[in-house]
Amino acid sequence: MVEIKTVPPDVDLSGASLIVGVLADTQPAPGAEEALAGADPMLLELAKFEGKTGQVLTLPHDQAKSVVFVGLGEEPGFEAIRAGMGNAIRVVKTERAVTNLNQIPLDGAERAVVEGAALGGYQFRNYKTEGEALAVETVELMGGDEATIGEVLVTTEATNLARDWVNTPALDKAPETLAELIRAQAEAAGLTVEIWDESRIATEELGALLGVAAGSDRPPRLVVLEYQPEGSGAHLGLVGKGITFDSGGLSLKTAAFMEEMKDDMSGAAVVSAATIAIARLALPVRVTTVVPLTDNAVGGKALRPGDILRPVAGPTIEVLNTDAEGRLILADGLGVVRRYEPDMIVDVATLTGAARVALGDKIAAVFGSDSDVAASILQAASRAGEHFWEMPLFNEYKKSIESDIADLKNISGSRYGGAITAALFLSSYADDSKWAHLDIAGPARSRETAGEQVKGASGIGVRTLVELARGLVGPS
Ligand code: BES
Ligand code: ZN
Ligand code: ZN
Repeated sequence: MVEIKTVPPDVDLSGASLIVGVLADTQPAPGAEEALAGADPMLLELAKFEGKTGQVLTLPHDQAKSVVFVGLGEEPGFEAIRAGMGNAIRVVKTERAVTNLNQIPLDGAERAVVEGAALGGYQFRNYKTEGEALAVETVELMGGDEATIGEVLVTTEATNLARDWVNTPALDKAPETLAELIRAQAEAAGLTVEIWDESRIATEELGALLGVAAGSDRPPRLVVLEYQPEGSGAHLGLVGKGITFDSGGLSLKTAAFMEEMKDDMSGAAVVSAATIAIARLALPVRVTTVVPLTDNAVGGKALRPGDILRPVAGPTIEVLNTDAEGRLILADGLGVVRRYEPDMIVDVATLTGAARVALGDKIAAVFGSDSDVAASILQAASRAGEHFWEMPLFNEYKKSIESDIADLKNISGSRYGGAITAALFLSSYADDSKWAHLDIAGPARSRETAGEQVKGASGIGVRTLVELARGLVGPS
C-alpha cells in the first residue's frame, strides 16, 4: 500500500520523482512553472505532450531524480487532478514521489490528489508470490494538510477494502468466511456486529434468502452492522447484495465471463466498507447495514424455476428464473433493515445486466422512491466524484412482474427495461420507506487501469454513501 503524507514545501527532492501539473497547450499549472521551464521543449514535442487530460510524461530533472508531468486539460478540475495523480503514481520509478498538485488553488484539490494516489496506487497482490507491481512507496504532498489527508484516506482505504473483498476469488469467500472478514474490519472500527447463521435465518423466516442458498453446500449468512453514535439525528439503513458466486443456479449462466460473477457481492462489500468509513469518521449519523450472503449454486437441493418463496415480509415470489436471484435476497435484506425503522434506506447491488446495457461500464443507475431521495444520491455522487444516473421507477411496468399464482414473479418476461422491472420488484419490499436502489452491475468492475481506477473491482458506491451520510443532518 502506498503511504501518503505531508512534507514541508522545501523538502529535499534528491532521489525522488516530482509530480507536477501541466495545463492544455503546455501551460504550466500553478507550481509547475519552474519544472516546465527547465524541460527541453524538444522533448515535450517529441513525446507529443500537450497537457491533455490523461497524458503523463517523465523527464530528467536537476533536483529530483525525475519529473512527472501530468496533463490537466483546459482547467485544473478535481476530476483531472484525481485521474492525473492516479496515472502518475503508476509510472513513478522511485520509492518516493513528491507532488505540489495539492497546491493548485481549487476547492478540493488536495482531496483529489490523495484520492488519485490512494485509489490509483491500489494493487491486489494477495495471490502473487513475488514483489510489488508499483515502485512507489510514499507520496509526499508539499505543504499538505495532515487532517484533510487523514480524513480522505479513511474513505479511500474503505474503497480499497471493498475492492479487496470483491477481487478475492469465490473459493476464498464462502458466505461464512466473508461474514467473518467483514466482522473483523467492522469490529475494529467500533461497530456492533451480528452474524445470523442458517438456523437463525430459518427461525427468522427469511424464505427468499434460504431459497437461493438451497443449491449450495456453503451455508448462507446475514450480517447486521450497527453504528449508533451519541446524539445522532438521521438514521440510514443500508442493504447490499451479497452473492458470493452467481452461477445462475438451475437457470445456469453460459461459461463466457462466468468468472466475473465473483463480483456479485460488490453491493455487500460496498455497504459494509462505507459503514466502516462512516464509523471511523465519527459522522453523526446512525447507520444500520444488512448484508445477506449466499452462493447461487446448482446442487441437488437447488431452487427450481416455478418454486414459490416467502420473504420475511411483503409479497410472495414465483421464481421463474433462478438467475434473477439478487432481488430475492434483497427482498429479505430490505425486510430485515426495515425492522430498525431507518429514515432512509439505500440498497446497492450488481443487479442486472440490463443496467450495464443501458449505462455502460462507467455509470451506475439510481432509482429513488421519490425525486428528493434520488437527488440526494446524485448530489452525494457528484461531490464524491462517482458517476450515477437516475432511472425511472415507471409504475406501468409493474404489471409485468405480477404472477399468476403468487404475488410477484422474479422476471418480467420481456428482454427490455430489465433494470427498471428489477427496481420495481424491490420497491414492493421497500414499501413506503424513503428508499434508493443503486444498480452497479456495470461499473462494479473496471475493465482497464486508468486514472484512479485499477483493472478489477472498482469499489464504486463507497465514496457516494460516505458523502450521503455526511449530508444527512437530522431526521426528515
Ligand atoms: N448478477 C447478475 C447481474 C449482472 C450481470 C451483474 C452482469 C454484473 C454483470 C444477476 O443476478 C443476473 O443474472 N441478472 C439477470 C436477470 C435476468 C435473468 C432477469 C440478467 O441481468 O441477465
Ligand atoms: Zn443472477
Ligand atoms: Zn446476481
